[in-house]
Amino acid sequence: MLETDLARKLLDFYLALGVDEAMGDSPLDRRRAEPLREAARPIADNHPPPLKPAPLNGPRLASSPPLDLAALSPDRGLADARSLAAGCLSIAALDAAIRSFNGCALKQTAMSTVVYDGTIEAPLLVIGEAPGGEEDRLGKPFVGPAGQMLDKMLGAIGLDRRHACITNMIYWRPPGNRKPTDAELALCLPFVERFISLMNPKIILLAGATPTQTLLGRTDGITKLRGRWFDWTDSSGVTIPMLPSYHPSYLLRSPGQKRDAWQDFLRLADRLDGFIQS
Ligand code: URA
Repeated sequence: MLETDLARKLLDFYLALGVDEAMGDSPLDRRRAEPLREAARPIADNHPPPLKPAPLNGPRLASSPPLDLAALSPDRGLADARSLAAGCLSIAALDAAIRSFNGCALKQTAMSTVVYDGTIEAPLLVIGEAPGGEEDRLGKPFVGPAGQMLDKMLGAIGLDRRHACITNMIYWRPPGNRKPTDAELALCLPFVERFISLMNPKIILLAGATPTQTLLGRTDGITKLRGRWFDWTDSSGVTIPMLPSYHPSYLLRSPGQKRDAWQDFLRLADRLDGFIQS
């Protein structure tokens, strides 16, 4: 077999395993990787700057060695997530708590912890699924192709990231951009719920099936649930209207659905009217 055929077969094998990024020229021993000391950031910093892209010859990982296997047990992880989230009295503290959390195994393979972007005082909270490759590199949600699509859709109703805060159900990129598992979603949920309570937005836009099904506790498809208003009620009884719509990545793959998404965004604009100061 020719060397190029062999190399192509090896690349296909990597792709099948979800290895779809060229991160460096030499292999990385994850157990000895340089820790990303995110927990040491100042808690008073209201909006942490995005992480710098990792240098090609030395990727950093979001995990902090030595690996604490006990922290990765699902029961302990969930208990840790709940108590960490409950103890946070501001989004800045919550941001730091999420960065310090080692209970989700996705952190071991991600470069960044991606928490939020935009304006936490804004009336609109957009919740997506999980960071992709570009988000992982830059440490900010929705900055790749899906993010550009989301920006365009917000722009079409006169909004940008000054009028919205953007976050995800999961804070670490799942390898190969696979869908997060139910266990991973459950581990991050206490942080997501606390984020909603602390931000207390006027309206929540759910981007796609994952945040919709998780926060509504329903298994119906997004086609059935999109465009309808639902209430989010937090632990202290505060109620916030939520609108599910298609995920921007889905719209990139299926542009025929943009018409329905546009109807959803018009509904959103209508309900936000009066809350937006330009
Ligand atoms: N898709 C998401 O759901 N979230 C992101 O941050 C990027 C892509």
